[in-house]
Order: sequence, then structure tokens, then C-alpha cells
Amino acid sequence: MNDANPYVDYARMDALHALQLPVTDSPFEMQFILLSQVKELLFRMVHLELEQARTRICEDRPEAACRALSRAVRHQRTLIGCWESMNAMPVDEFLPFRDTLGEASGTQSYMYRLLEFTLGNRVSAMVRPTDFTRFPQLSAELQRPSLYDEVLRHLARTGLPVPEHILTRDVTGPYVPDDAVEDVWATVYRSPDKYRAAYDLAEQLLEVAYQFSRWRATHLLVVERMIGGKRGLGGTDGAAWLRKINEHRFFAELWTARSAL
Ligand code: HEM
Repeated sequence: MNDANPYVDYARMDALHALQLPVTDSPFEMQFILLSQVKELLFRMVHLELEQARTRICEDRPEAACRALSRAVRHQRTLIGCWESMNAMPVDEFLPFRDTLGEASGTQSYMYRLLEFTLGNRVSAMVRPTDFTRFPQLSAELQRPSLYDEVLRHLARTGLPVPEHILTRDVTGPYVPDDAVEDVWATVYRSPDKYRAAYDLAEQLLEVAYQFSRWRATHLLVVERMIGGKRGLGGTDGAAWLRKINEHRFFAELWTARSAL
């Protein structure tokens, strides 16, 4: 008898549902694993769209890049919504199995790091050397200009005065905000009709950065709710460390240019 199930077979649902292996009897541990996996997959969805956006920018097609960025934003909103399900877990149900997680920490998520690297926050120290070997996508990403690097190169090709040292910067390191780039964005914002495509691109990039910061801020709230001031499993001082991370903004000049308007 043919036991094919086209739905299960197409997307390997049987393999998917075999990937949760709780080590305690807590039903909440199963939910914690499921949510962590859902979030990983959504990180990947966001990454796929950022790749699309970068490709379109390299082709000098800012409108097409905007469409990819707006799709990324939808996935980011879904990601943020997942925290609601995490909050359904009572703290006294979380703590008993937290001890079984050992040193497992979100800092070790290579898909999250790939997202940060793709956007331009390239802090290599956040990746363990063995992870660079195990996940070669991370080292490969550092050899390419980030999405923001490509955006600035695109602006330069349209005639905007992006400085040479930005266009030729060492892309393997984190992007350092620059006053002249802030001036470029301020110019765009002062004349939206003249720079319509750049203006729309700026607003879509800002939305991606805004949603990223919302994800971080909500994560911090969930962390305070679950573990208060306890140390993180990754070895940091927990909420205090995350609070510092929350100060970072992607595409920093898009935020600071507001002061100049
Ligand atoms: C109750 C649930 C959670 C708690 C208490 C928690 C706690 C923490 C803490 C304390 C840190 C700081 C680093 C450390 O010392 O470990 C951290 C980092 C991180 N967590 Fe969570 N976390 C939770 C759920 C999640 C989930 C579901 C995800 C998504 C898969 C996630 C992703 C991350 C990421 C990506 C970082 C690194 C952030 C960065 O490097 O900027 N966390 N988490």
C-alpha cells in the first residue's frame, strides 16, 4: 500500500517533529524548544529577504530592495510576536529546567549572528573560533560588504557625496558611524521629492532597524520577567549586558540625521 503523505513528505514534517528532545518531563521545556526553533527559522526568513535586498541594491534597483525589506519587516513582526508565547510560561515552570540548559545561550545562535553581520554589526568577538569553522557562512559573510555598505555604495553611484574612506573601508569589521554619511542622509531627508528612491530606501532601512531594536527590547523584558538580575547562561551579567546591547542601532546615521533636520 502506498503510504505517501504529500504534505508531510514535501516539507519533511516527520523529521521536523522529531527534532525536539526535552531532557526533563516539563511540558514547558517542549514549548521552550519549539519557540527557540520557530525563532531560528524566522531569523532565516528575515535573512533570506535581507539577501534579496542586498542583491537588488547591487543592481541599483532600490524599489525592488524596498519590497524585500518590507517583507523582512513582516517576518520581524512575527518574530517579536513569538515573545508573547514565551511569556505564557510561568517563571516557576522555567527555572527547574533552566539548570539543564548548561551553558547554552542565544549568543551562540549562528543564524542570529549572520543577521547581525549581514546588516553591518560585525563584532567577530561574539563568535567562538570553533563556530567560524563549524558555520562557514559566518566567515564568508565577513568577506562581503554588508547590506549597509552596499546601500552606501549605491548612493555614491547615484551621485551623493559618500566619502571614499567609507566606500573602501575594511568590510570585515563593524561599521563605524560617520558624520559625512549623516550629512548625506540629512540631504536626502531635506529634499524627499528630489531624492525619492533614496528617501524610500532610508525609511525601509530604518523600519528594519526599528523592528530589530524592538526585538532586542522585548527580549530584555522577557529576560527580566524570567530571571530578574541573574547571570546569563552564556556568562554575561544577564539583563545588564542586554541593556547595553539595546543601545546599539543599525544604520546609526539614519537615526542621528534626525537631529540635524
Ligand atoms: C526565558 C527565555 C530566555 C532567557 C531567560 C534568555 C536570556 C538571555 C540572556 C541572559 C542573554 C545574555 C547572554 C547570556 O549571558 O546568555 C541572552 C542573549 C541572547 N538570547 Fe536569550 N533568553 C531567552 C530566550 C531566548 C530565545 C527564545 C531566543 C531566540 C532564539 C533568544 C535569543 C538570544 C540571542 C540571539 C542572544 C544574544 C543577543 C546578542 O548577542 O545581541 N533568547 N538571552
